[in-house]
Amino acid sequence: MGIYADYAATTPTKPEVIEAMMKIYETHYGNPSSIHAQGRDARRFLDESRRTVAQCLNAQPNEIIFTSGATESNNTAIKGIAFANEAQGKHLITTKIEHHSVLHVFEYLETQGFEVTYLDVNEEGLVDLNALKQQLRPDTTLVSIMFVNNEVGTVQHVYDIQEILKTHRAYFHMDAVQAIGHLPVDVEDLQVDALSLTAHKFGGPKGVGALYVKNGTAIQYLQQGGEQETKRRAGTENVAQIVGLATAMKLADAERDENQVQIAQLKELLLVSLQERAIPFEYNGSMIDTSNHIINLYFPFVDVETLLTLLDMSQIYVSSGSACTAGSTIPSHVLSAMYGADDRVTHSIRISINENMTERDIKTIVAEIQKIYLRFKEESS
Ligand SMILES: Cc1ncc(COP(=O)(O)O)c(C=O)c1O
Repeated sequence: MGIYADYAATTPTKPEVIEAMMKIYETHYGNPSSIHAQGRDARRFLDESRRTVAQCLNAQPNEIIFTSGATESNNTAIKGIAFANEAQGKHLITTKIEHHSVLHVFEYLETQGFEVTYLDVNEEGLVDLNALKQQLRPDTTLVSIMFVNNEVGTVQHVYDIQEILKTHRAYFHMDAVQAIGHLPVDVEDLQVDALSLTAHKFGGPKGVGALYVKNGTAIQYLQQGGEQETKRRAGTENVAQIVGLATAMKLADAERDENQVQIAQLKELLLVSLQERAIPFEYNGSMIDTSNHIINLYFPFVDVETLLTLLDMSQIYVSSGSACTAGSTIPSHVLSAMYGADDRVTHSIRISINENMTERDIKTIVAEIQKIYLRFKEESS
């Protein structure tokens, strides 16, 4: 089976989630827009899921739109707010370390006449808040900043960001994908106008997500078609997947505190074991403002592709955190933003863990990295 330590990429679907989804596929398969009993039955599950997700986020049910995942949620929020507020201004702000489903949307908007400011981050991956203050202009209509970075785990100072934005009219969108199940995500506390999430990062199925949009937000919905999701997202709702999302979210919320204790211990064990075995490494990002499930490490003795390949051969499944195409790793834009043209960009991997991993798993990962280190050390001596 090997050891899977790539939970920031995706998580296995929880058995309770599969069970809840199977019930929909087998019995409650009606189209929630149909007015007959079978349709009304499916609608009941859809409504209940919306209430569950809203409750987990401390939102109103009518502020939740189900989507095909965070990529769609991010696209909808960013383009939708930018286009709806075009008359007020065409300046937008984001950061250099966002996920591509945010960055590439902003790059597209640049081709549509918008001006985008990409904020720098420091070596810990924290956004430069002075720059945010300075860059806000009367024509800025949207600021999009992620909660937890998916490559290095840095948690942004969202309450400071909120303070800065309080006196500005710009809408605040947050990609909270990596925060669900790891940090409290309360839209009232965060003071966000829009927030994206995707189910498969917290034990739900792939291909389903949600977008929170605060009531009163000026946003233009981009998909034409039927009147589903109160005319905000045309297309028959994927009820089974939505029920899966809601079930997973409820579980992730309920188990969060307990899971975090276990995850923190496993992380500590990983770092201590690497030190004990005298493997040269450095920690990328912040040791304090971080979500423990994402651990990005710099191993100066081996490049990322070789390390990932050798670990894969030993059935240890981790990642570089950045995009891979046809076996080659594109240098991480996140590490580049944090460290510039440093060796770290090409010699770092992301180990992302969850509460079901064992101490033995962690020790096996460390032992395999040590073997690789000793091999390279011998070859170079
Ligand atoms: C921070 C972040 N945002 C957005 C996404 C996109 O999620 P999905 O591929 O489920 O649409 C991911 C997934 O890797 C992510 O980590």
